[in-house]
Amino acid sequence: MSKKDLAVIILAAGKGTRMKSSLPKVLHKICNKPMVNHVIDASKALNPNKIISVINSDMQEISDNLKDISEIAIQTEQLGTAHAVKPAIDKLKGFEGNIIILYADTPLIKSETLSQMIGKLDESSLCVLGFTPEDPAEYGRLITNENDYLQEIVEFKDANEDQRMVGLCNSGVIAITSDSLFKLIDKIDNNNAKGEYYLTDLVDLVNQDNNKCSYILADENEVLGVNNRKQLSDAEYLAQSRLREQAMLSGATLLDPETVYFSHDTKIGQDVTIEPNVFFGLGVVIADNVHIKANSHIEGTKIAQNCIIGPFARLRPNTNLQENVKIGNFVEVKKSDIGKASKVNHLSYIGDSSLGQNVNVGAGTITCNYDGKNKFKTQIQDNAFIGSNTALVAPVTIGENSLIGAGSTITKDIENNMLAVTRAKLVKANKG
Ligand code: UD1
Ligand code: CA
Repeated sequence: MSKKDLAVIILAAGKGTRMKSSLPKVLHKICNKPMVNHVIDASKALNPNKIISVINSDMQEISDNLKDISEIAIQTEQLGTAHAVKPAIDKLKGFEGNIIILYADTPLIKSETLSQMIGKLDESSLCVLGFTPEDPAEYGRLITNENDYLQEIVEFKDANEDQRMVGLCNSGVIAITSDSLFKLIDKIDNNNAKGEYYLTDLVDLVNQDNNKCSYILADENEVLGVNNRKQLSDAEYLAQSRLREQAMLSGATLLDPETVYFSHDTKIGQDVTIEPNVFFGLGVVIADNVHIKANSHIEGTKIAQNCIIGPFARLRPNTNLQENVKIGNFVEVKKSDIGKASKVNHLSYIGDSSLGQNVNVGAGTITCNYDGKNKFKTQIQDNAFIGSNTALVAPVTIGENSLIGAGSTITKDIENNMLAVTRAKLVKANKG
């Protein structure tokens, strides 16, 4: 790969009307990460000197999302892809090197492909990422010459019958030297079927300038463009397939892979078994030898070795499970630490809590952490045993080795080694 300086321009100013959404298109998520962030992350892997995202002036939400990871350039009117590149060029004064231009609605692009394109700039001034889709539809067509270099790109609307027969299509990704881009961008006009400034006209202009245009081929799936929610779900499906494969190849068993949903940042150790219908939200880290049983929903949770989770468990953000913990069916845990070998096996809510080691929480136990205004903490210390159907009204601490009788409502701290029972007196009378 060429060692020159690199700038990345990401075009995201289109309105995305076909999404039928109040959210800008490129903020729609794939694997729980906005599309534009996928594209930025793929380009970051190349260590560029600059990343510039082009957005339109109504996209405050995008600008908030991107301000720490990319420079922002504003395209005030949407007059075409070449027009969109100009505000980015204004931010590249004095830059010399290679430039990659990407579309923010093509989220599955891989950094290896981008490196390969930059490599091609050693022997040409411009490189286009092409592909041969099953249905070339309305993509721009790549017209090659006898040496298999690119002669021009013809937009579908401007193409004649012969050109429309060409199966080689434009994915939209272009790598170009700064010399050529800066020299030629202002020569692009809008004399075409759409009356837009087409970035694709650069190919013809580079040829006229006596430089070469090359292309490389990508897999159709990698350059899938998302314009509507059907394509969003196609992209999600492909991205999930990549993550499932990755998990399996790194040593996890997925009983029914197609029913397991990952987030882009899910981390899974070896010998982890995941049963069907499990959903991983953001921020899940799972150590080795964990068993996740069917129908569990897990987000923002760290799970240490040898834990058994589910079936039907719900683990919410800021949960930390130490080794050998068991969380059983219909148990919800939120913002809690659970110590080694503790068990919460049936029908419980544990929120804002800290449990020591070897704690046993009986069926139906609830931590009452909320009084309608504020949240309070529950502490259950090592070896405590909480009888079934207990309400622990926080703030409250249950001391080590203490035992709470079934059906109790505990409103005060219980010291170590105590037995505590609160229970209405049993009354027996003849029904008469
Ligand atoms: C473009 C290509 C076409 C290619 C196809 C691949 C051009 C002229 N055509 O067509 O050859 O086959 O992508 O999907 O480039 N955008 C702006 N500002 C604008 C216009 C567009 O930022 O004024 C952004 C959009 O947000 C989008 C990208 O540029 O991310 C592509 O624009 P779009 O209008 O969707 O191009 P296509 O007609 O699909
Ligand atoms: Ca498009």
